[in-house]
This record gives sequence, C-alpha cells and structure tokens, in this order.
Amino acid sequence: MTTLDVSALLTEDRQHLLHPLYHPADHAAPHLWVRGSGATLTDAAGREFIDGLSCLWNVNIGHGRRELAEAAAEQMATLAFSTNYAGSANVPAIRLARRLTEIAYPNLCAVFFTSGGAESNESAFKTARFYWKTKGRPEKVKIIARQYAYHGVTLATMSATGIPGYTKMFEPRVPNFVHTVAPYAYRFEGVKPGESVGQAAARMLEETIL
Ligand SMILES: Cc1ncc(COP(=O)(O)O)c(C=O)c1O
Repeated sequence: MTTLDVSALLTEDRQHLLHPLYHPADHAAPHLWVRGSGATLTDAAGREFIDGLSCLWNVNIGHGRRELAEAAAEQMATLAFSTNYAGSANVPAIRLARRLTEIAYPNLCAVFFTSGGAESNESAFKTARFYWKTKGRPEKVKIIARQYAYHGVTLATMSATGIPGYTKMFEPRVPNFVHTVAPYAYRFEGVKPGESVGQAAARMLEETIL
C-alpha cells in the first residue's frame, strides 16, 4: 500500500470538503479512515477501532465483504442503472423486492426503493398525503414526530426532527409537523401518579392528536 501524506490530505480536507454538523473543535484532529474489516475500522495512523455504529447504520454486514464487491462489480458491468419509473423494470430490483416481502412482516407486500433515510421519510410523508387524498380527506397533512427524534437532512425531515440544534440555522420549517414527547425516562416531565413514563408519553401523544 502507498504511504499517505496524512497532513497534506487533511489540509486538502479543510480546503475542499464540507462536513455535516461541523464545528472546528470537533474537526481539529479528524480520523482519516482508510480500511475496514468486519466490525473494525483502521485509521491512517494504523489505529484500530470497533465500528460500533456500522458507520452510519449502513454497513450492516461489516466491512470488506468481497462477495458484495463482486456482486456490485458484476451488476455494474452488466447494467449500471435503469430507471424504475412506470414503464421500466429490472431484474435485481424485482428479486430484491420479492425477497424483502418474504422476510418482512406479513402485510408488507410491496416496497418502494429510496437512496437513504431522509428520502424514505419524505416518501412516507408523501404516501400519507396521497392516501388521504384518495380517501377524500386532502386536509389531513399533519405529521406527529417526537422530541429528540432525528429524521434526516432534507427540509421536511428536518422539520420532523425534534432536536433544536438541527433546525436553528435553517428555519422556517416546513409547516404541519407537530411534536410530542418521547418516552425518555431520564428527561421526562409530567408523569401523573400511577403512570409509567411510557403510559404518560402515550397519553400525551393522544392529547397531541386530539
Ligand atoms: C432514525 C433516522 N431516520 C432518518 C435518518 C436519515 O437517514 P439518511 O442519512 O440516510 O438520509 C437517520 C440517519 O441517521 C436516522 O437515524
């Protein structure tokens, strides 16, 4: 393996890369990740770390899985992309959709593929609007989310997110996102005598709906 000039790379990083949730103190001495194997990440200094988050919950079966790299390479060489808009279909998408319906809970009989979590939530918001329009209730556009919940980087998912630091510099929010409490025992306020935190959160959700 070629030796990396870590200091030059980190200078270029500062010059050319924008990092989400940036603060200079957090990025004063960033890890330069160069390798992963299973649940282990290695940085440019050769230090190994347990990848406890599976990166961003997206390396679910570990790093360095050659069979995945080979399947991706084979598919890219065969057909790099095809649209999934009405009028087109492709073999891997059909097979994956069928497989997912086999392993998901029984009433999940169809899937809609997206590129990530924020896009999935956006699609869910739109699906709910579509549903209520077909039911003759187009005024039903409110989405209830929880305090402390994180839902993604886009404007609507940011508006659903219940963490003030994520929204402050990007307001105004998309309207019709309503927040309720999270059943988070450590910070919970407003439990009535005889209620558990979970029961109080359920009651407050009901109050929010009403
Ligand atoms: C609960 C939850 N929803 C949505 C997202 C957004 O996903 P993405 O970053 O893939 O858009 C995340 C990402 O961390 C998440 O944890």
